Amino acid sequence: MNPLLEVDALSVRLPVGGELRTVLRDVSFALDRGSALGLVGESGSGKSMTVRTIARLLPEGADVRGGVRFDGAEVFALRGDALRAYRAKDVAMIFQDARAHTNPVRTIGDFLTEALRTNDRMPKPAALRRAGDLLAEVGIADPERRLRQFPHELSGGLLQRVMIAAAVAARPRLVLADEPTTALDVTTQAEVMAILGRMRREYGMAMLFITHDLELAGAVCDETIVLYAGQVMERQASARLHEDPLHPYTAALVQARPEIGRRVERLPAIAGHPTTAYEAPDGCAFAPRCHVAQPECRESVPALLRIGPSETRCVRMPGLRGRTGPREYAGPASNEEIQP
Ligand SMILES: Nc1ncnc2c1ncn2[C@@H]1O[C@H](COP(=O)(O)OP(=O)(O)O)[C@@H](O)[C@H]1O
Ligand SMILES: [Mg+2]
Repeated sequence: MNPLLEVDALSVRLPVGGELRTVLRDVSFALDRGSALGLVGESGSGKSMTVRTIARLLPEGADVRGGVRFDGAEVFALRGDALRAYRAKDVAMIFQDARAHTNPVRTIGDFLTEALRTNDRMPKPAALRRAGDLLAEVGIADPERRLRQFPHELSGGLLQRVMIAAAVAARPRLVLADEPTTALDVTTQAEVMAILGRMRREYGMAMLFITHDLELAGAVCDETIVLYAGQVMERQASARLHEDPLHPYTAALVQARPEIGRRVERLPAIAGHPTTAYEAPDGCAFAPRCHVAQPECRESVPALLRIGPSETRCVRMPGLRGRTGPREYAGPASNEEIQP
């Protein structure tokens, strides 16, 4: 069977001040039905743009090359009702800032019944009953009262549960979760992840999960992709990513992470500064920060190499692996360490 989602050599440029700026470069990956794929990378690496492209939510004037296929259908060929159905039923998005995605003057009931009433043409009383059931499903007590409340009357964790309830209402086959727990405290994060996990299992939903947290990606996702400057640097089984990173960038992220069991809000610091896809140098985008870079690394953009079931965009890695541990090619962990 074909994968649920196939992203194929996707390149995206966005208009900025009269020119087109590259934000994604040759991004390819696939996601099977019901499975979870993590997407990690520093701020600006293109994580949100990847999910926005998949959801066909790019800004006006975007230039898209390559393809996105959902269940075999070209997403960028969808028009009219087919596009509406794709966005309303096939994929659902959950964002970091739940509050910014609600209307402060409309109740939780209004918010949850809107899609049911417009997409499913459900009469109001039935839609409200269904909205109450959805809230109960995500573990919200006293749903009738919550439906009458406004967003400001709910905590961040409760509001994110409401967002999950809204996202899974149509039983989408793919959930695009863009840092859904980054704004929450550690305990609430764990609760929200547990609910998301339960919903996924119950309804067989696949998930593309964006996070700053390598540990969390490892705990939740079958595979993890590491993005840097709008490119896939590595794709690997999440469990292997920590033990045997296949890219010096991943190795540096793994080495710089705080002790196991502690959740972080940002990726750890690595020597040097991240680059955007737009400003990336010739050759490997990570070369200026890389501990093991050679002149060849600056000559041309490395291809994504297969190593077993995994992939790395590093020409040095096949030679380095086996001879050294990840620590050797990870290099210094922070800017402080390389200052004189
Ligand atoms: N509307 C936009 N127009 C032009 N460039 C944008 C726009 N939104 C984001 N970008 C740029 O695209 C790149 C990727 O951004 P994004 O996907 O939001 O990163 P991430 O989610 O990994 O932090 C960044 O360099 C960012 O500045
Ligand atoms: Mg983002």
